[in-house]
Amino acid sequence: MNHAERVRGEYAKLAADYDQRWSRYTDATLSETLASLELEGTERILDVPIGTGPLAERLLAKWPDLNIAGVDVSPEMLEQAAQKPELSSVQMQEACASELPFEDDAFDCVFCVNSFHFFAAPEASLREMRRVLRDGGRLVLVDWCDDYLICKLCSLWLRLVDPAFHRTYTVEHCQRMLRECGFETVTARRFRVSWLWGMMRIEAG
Ligand SMILES: C[S@@+](CC[C@H](N)C(=O)[O-])C[C@H]1O[C@@H](n2cnc3c(N)ncnc32)[C@H](O)[C@@H]1O
Repeated sequence: MNHAERVRGEYAKLAADYDQRWSRYTDATLSETLASLELEGTERILDVPIGTGPLAERLLAKWPDLNIAGVDVSPEMLEQAAQKPELSSVQMQEACASELPFEDDAFDCVFCVNSFHFFAAPEASLREMRRVLRDGGRLVLVDWCDDYLICKLCSLWLRLVDPAFHRTYTVEHCQRMLRECGFETVTARRFRVSWLWGMMRIEAG
């Protein structure tokens, strides 16, 4: 079984209850994701992976004319997103972050939120995100951060018990990977959403 199949297997079990079970965590991480975000309101946005669509919901509530696409490897998570009337304008498809089904320069902004720790091919995924971003476009990446000891320990434990989990990174490691994958400007900040979850928000262009 390859890694994408393991992720699919796990999210097939989680999809139906995902929104309810993770609502507090999702609210906290997405409010930090969007806190300092400025958009014109008509940009082309890629949400990778879109999951059940909570980021797209919040973006469209504020900027209804955004042109949003989302991909995910889990058909069950996409099905949850597709059932939401407020996401009817979002183009969704099943795809892996490391093989994005889009032309070069197709997006003004790419989001990768709460998911990078699942990617078995992180560099290939970052290169794909860079490829589909136009010159001057930006990536917003938010994920668990190994600079927090508790997250590092959690990561070691998840490697043993969660077949979908790959690994987490420090800010420095992530910044290095982003530069190696073609991003030139990289800014980062860390934040906590609870005693357990220490996060990083990285913007790269
Ligand atoms: C914790 S959910 C987060 C989804 C969403 N970004 C959010 O903030 O709610 C993680 C999602 O990543 C997806 N996923 C994991 N690895 C992936 C990959 N390599 N390519 C595309 N989707 C992936 C899973 O199927 C799942 O829907």
